[in-house]
Amino acid sequence: MNRVRKQVLMSLSSGAKSFWELINGVDTSIFELVKCLDALISAGVVRLRGGIFELARPEERMFSAETRCECCKGTGTSIKSFESVYKKYCELVKGRPLPVVGSGYKYEYDQGIIFEDDVIRRVAFMHARGDLNDSEIIVVGDDDLMSVAIAATGLAKRILVLEIDERLVNFINKVATAENFPLEAEEYDVRERLPTGMRGGFDVFVTDPLETVVGFELFLSRCAEALKPYGAGFFGLTRVELPLARWQLFEKFLLDMNFVITDILKDFSSYAHGIENPLEGIKDILSTYDKKHLEFFEKMKLEQEIMRVKPKEPWYKSSFFRVELVGEVRPKHIGRISGDVYTEA
Ligand SMILES: C[S@@+](CC[C@H](N)C(=O)[O-])C[C@H]1O[C@@H](n2cnc3c(N)ncnc32)[C@H](O)[C@@H]1O
Repeated sequence: MNRVRKQVLMSLSSGAKSFWELINGVDTSIFELVKCLDALISAGVVRLRGGIFELARPEERMFSAETRCECCKGTGTSIKSFESVYKKYCELVKGRPLPVVGSGYKYEYDQGIIFEDDVIRRVAFMHARGDLNDSEIIVVGDDDLMSVAIAATGLAKRILVLEIDERLVNFINKVATAENFPLEAEEYDVRERLPTGMRGGFDVFVTDPLETVVGFELFLSRCAEALKPYGAGFFGLTRVELPLARWQLFEKFLLDMNFVITDILKDFSSYAHGIENPLEGIKDILSTYDKKHLEFFEKMKLEQEIMRVKPKEPWYKSSFFRVELVGEVRPKHIGRISGDVYTEA
């Protein structure tokens, strides 16, 4: 069964769509979507005009309905009780270091930040699971400044951030000092061993890992190693970058480390960079996992056409995972690893 084709046809049945709206309507990676659109256009089922995709054959029309709740952006989590934390967080992150596009269309350190209300939604969900009150929390990689939002709740006992970007480390430490938060940030590269004294020291981890195999394994191994037995963790993972086979690989890896996956909240967090630099965003994704993916996209000569209509809504989203240890942790990597972790070989 070709589910991507079905979802594209469902999405177009409710009206013509831009490329960005189509991404939002399907459960698939960008590359799988691009391949599917190429086939549908070649077969004369879909037409692309002025940056808009539409059904060329009315007989392909399918029933399609919007089913997401409008009040919580379909996340199932309300931030009403965290209104004051939200306001405080927005104040505290003013002047924050922003992600920069480095060489070509690649973001430095694969950074990309989620919207402020989505940060608070993550915090609210952590709270609901009993993972904030009196917890010692480690955050590995923190361009979203989750640590600042957690600290602003006043609920956690201690928060430690490990982050490669010196700008973020300095910013977090400045806020922590000014606000007298139990929060501290240290410069750290996940390729290095976990700093001494951190093994088994935390109740909860939070991270937004790289999505290459080695990158994901390193982020999650370091986080796992830092956990106490029966600890819990939270991280984001996208579908837009990854085929389901990759999710399966990651889920097996988590089970092998003695975690159980307790929650997967679909498209829980939305990112700003997809709206601001959409073409850089998809080229970055298509070049990360297999060079042939970007070559395929460039051969289709879609770029100019799809950019005629700019994204109005976020299309780069991640699902929020919660995992919990069912005893002692079995981290896969504890030693140092060298080499490129940002691009798949
Ligand atoms: C990997 S990025 C992912 C960003 C984005 N929120 C997402 O989900 O796509 C998350 C954080 O990890 C940091 N980071 C990237 N490479 C790292 C490394 N080698 N060691 C430690 N932190 C790293 C980034 O600076 C950023 O703050």
